[in-house]
Amino acid sequence: MMNAAVSCDGEKVATGLNIEERGWLVSLLGQKVHFDVPMRRHTTLAVGGPADALAMPADIKDLTTLLSGARQRAIPWLIVGGGSNLLVRDGGVRGIVIALTPYFKGITTIGHGRESVRVAAKAGTRLQTLCRYTIERGLAGITFAVGIPGSVGGAIAMNAGTADGWISDVLETITVLWPTGRLQRLSRADLDFGYRRLYLPTPQITAGDHQGVIIEGTFAFPRADVQQLRINSQKIKERRRRRQPVGVSSAGCFFKNPPSGPSAGELIDKAGLKGKRVGGAEISFRHGNFIINRGNASAADILTLADIIEARVAVEFGVRLEPEVIIVGESNHASKSI
Ligand code: EPU
Repeated sequence: MMNAAVSCDGEKVATGLNIEERGWLVSLLGQKVHFDVPMRRHTTLAVGGPADALAMPADIKDLTTLLSGARQRAIPWLIVGGGSNLLVRDGGVRGIVIALTPYFKGITTIGHGRESVRVAAKAGTRLQTLCRYTIERGLAGITFAVGIPGSVGGAIAMNAGTADGWISDVLETITVLWPTGRLQRLSRADLDFGYRRLYLPTPQITAGDHQGVIIEGTFAFPRADVQQLRINSQKIKERRRRRQPVGVSSAGCFFKNPPSGPSAGELIDKAGLKGKRVGGAEISFRHGNFIINRGNASAADILTLADIIEARVAVEFGVRLEPEVIIVGESNHASKSI
């Protein structure tokens, strides 16, 4: 069980993993688990307190044992991909953060059709590696993602997309590992994609399968001309460099675009908020929907700035902005759970 204390309001507060839990993780993963790991090193926003444990399972067996053991011990866990759409609060994450990027990697061509080619990519593969792989083989459909950081699993879970395309357009199947060890292949038709979200079907088969992990995706990419793809990808990169802050710490767009009307970036811009700072966090001058870390921001700085944006946009335009970024962990003061 987690070590637990009781806060002044009587709520149970987790204080980390106990010796038995740490010992179990070391016996299972050896060098592939680290403790009290600052999450700022694992997120592109470069903020966030420590994860009690950062586990890097090498294969499905490791991952299954990890998930079932965590369930038995009631230890919460969280899968991270490239950490590019994740804001970890300053108090860090209680439980186990599971990174698939070190070992769940690889791309394989699994079928050649006349019009398209089927490709499988493991969840921890970098999205940019998949983009390069497809472009060099004359495969279209994912060029929109050129320049988007993160992993294939993260891109599927977040339904990555732009005006030029969405990952859900080319996805054929995903393989999900449930904590009981059951592997399930789900086809595109079984999946409920939303704006920047994939809702996995609620499992009904086995008790304990309460949270699944995407470990692989297969895609059908239409055939296209390599030269044309290279030109398109160059254009997309250039447009991104022109319109978005590149090479600085951020989580990309911070807020979802409202369902209709002006984009979040445009509203923030029109509210005159560009350049506004709280501590080391700043609203980008280049794109209003990017909050950037100028080097020394805390998660609290970023969240305070986000609150200011939400309040100002609500007052000026009557629009309620919602973060697109996933916010997890505990703040330093009140201990809220994931
Ligand atoms: N705009 C402004 N001021 C700004 C920013 C934008 O007036 O500071 C205006 C633009 O001129 C344009 C409109 O707002 O008329 C839309 O801007 P943009 O083309 O930059 O697209 P966006 O809606 O802000 C979306 C995605 C991005 C993706 C781009 C490129 C969301 C929340 N954002 O941005 O995704 O890269 O399209 O296609 O859907 C991300 O998800 O992290 C992300 C960056």
